[in-house]
Amino acid sequence: MTRVFSAMQPTSDSLHLGNYLGALVEWVKLQDTHDAIYSVVDLHALTQAPEPELLRSRTRRTAAQYLAAGVDPERSLCFVQSHVPQHAELSWILSTFTGMGEASRMTQFKDKAQKTGESGANVGLFTYPILMAADILLYDTDVVPVGEDQRQHLELSRDLAQRINGRFGEGTVMVPEAHIVKETAKIYDLQDPVKKMSKSTGNPKGIIEMLDDPKKVAKNIKSAVTDLDSVIRFDREAKPGVSNLLTIYSALTGRDVDGLVAEYEGRMYGHLKVDLADVVVAYLTPFHDAAMEWIESPERLDGVLAQGAAKASTIAQATLDRIYDRLGLLPPLHR
Ligand code: TYM
Repeated sequence: MTRVFSAMQPTSDSLHLGNYLGALVEWVKLQDTHDAIYSVVDLHALTQAPEPELLRSRTRRTAAQYLAAGVDPERSLCFVQSHVPQHAELSWILSTFTGMGEASRMTQFKDKAQKTGESGANVGLFTYPILMAADILLYDTDVVPVGEDQRQHLELSRDLAQRINGRFGEGTVMVPEAHIVKETAKIYDLQDPVKKMSKSTGNPKGIIEMLDDPKKVAKNIKSAVTDLDSVIRFDREAKPGVSNLLTIYSALTGRDVDGLVAEYEGRMYGHLKVDLADVVVAYLTPFHDAAMEWIESPERLDGVLAQGAAKASTIAQATLDRIYDRLGLLPPLHR
C-alpha cells in the first residue's frame, strides 16, 4: 500500500478551519486507501518558544482534534514527533545536503523572520523545512496532504530526496508527492479574504477556530467582509470574500459551488452568511464534543500516542539504518 504522511504544529489550542479543510479532511479520506501516518510536530513548534505547559496541552489538544476529525487509530498511526528521535537524527543528515541559498529561499522563513529581522530569528526557524523533509522521508512517504502554503517545503523535500538518490542510488529514499486539493488548498481570512486564514497573522474575527464557541463562530461568519455589489457568484479575483464563503459552504456540505450559486441567485449576502453560519455551527458541534472527549481522557489519548510512536519508530529506524548504511556510516554493532 502506498504511504501517506502529514503533520501539524501544536501552536494553538484549536486548529482553524483552514487547517481542517486544507489538510485534515484529506488525511481522513486517504486512510481508506493508504497506509497513513500522522504526527503532531512538537519539535517544529519549539521554534516559536512556547511556554512548556502550553506546549504540553496543545500537543494533546492537536492530537485530540485529529482523532475527532476521524483519524482512526486502529488503521492509522498517530504520534508525537519528539517521541520518535529519528526525526531529529535524519534532519541532521539532510542538513548536510541542503544549500544555504536553497534554505534561504524558503518564503515561510522570510515571512516569519520578518518580525525579528533575519539575524534575530532562531536557527531552528531557518532549518525548519529540513526537519519537515526528515519527517516525510523517514517513512518512505509517497503522498503528503497539505495546504498550498506548504508547497515550497514539499518541493525542498523532493529535491533533497532526488539529490540523495542521485548520489547514493535509487531507493535510498522515496521521492514524495504533494497532495494539494485545488478547491480547499487555501482558505482565506474572513476579514481580509486575499490573505490565508492563519492564527499567527490574522485578526481573530477573520478566523474560525474548530473548538470555538458556536456564537463566536456564527458572529465571525456574519461579519465576514464581502464587497459592495450584492451578486453571489464565484470569482476569486473580483469577489474574494464571497468566493471564500462559497468554498467553505461547498466543502462542509459536499454541494458543488455552481449549485449553491444557482440557489442563491437574486438573494442577498446576508442570506448566504446566515445559512453558512448554521452549516458551520452544526458541523463544528459534534467535532467539538468528540475532541473534548479525548481532551478529557488524557490517559486514553496518551495510550493512542504511545502505540503510534512505538510503531512509527520501528519504521523510522529501518529507514534510518538504510540511509546511514548507504552514506557510509559504520553499522552500530552494539545495538
Ligand atoms: P501548519 O501546522 O502550519 O498547518 C497544518 C496544515 O494546515 C494547512 N493550512 C491551510 N490550508 C488551507 N488554508 C489555510 N488557510 C491553511 N492554513 C494552514 C497547512 O498547509 C498544513 O497542511 N510545516 C507544517 C507542519 C509539518 C508538516 C511536516 C506537514 C511539519 N512536518 C511533514 C507535512 C509533512 C506546518 O507548519 O503546518
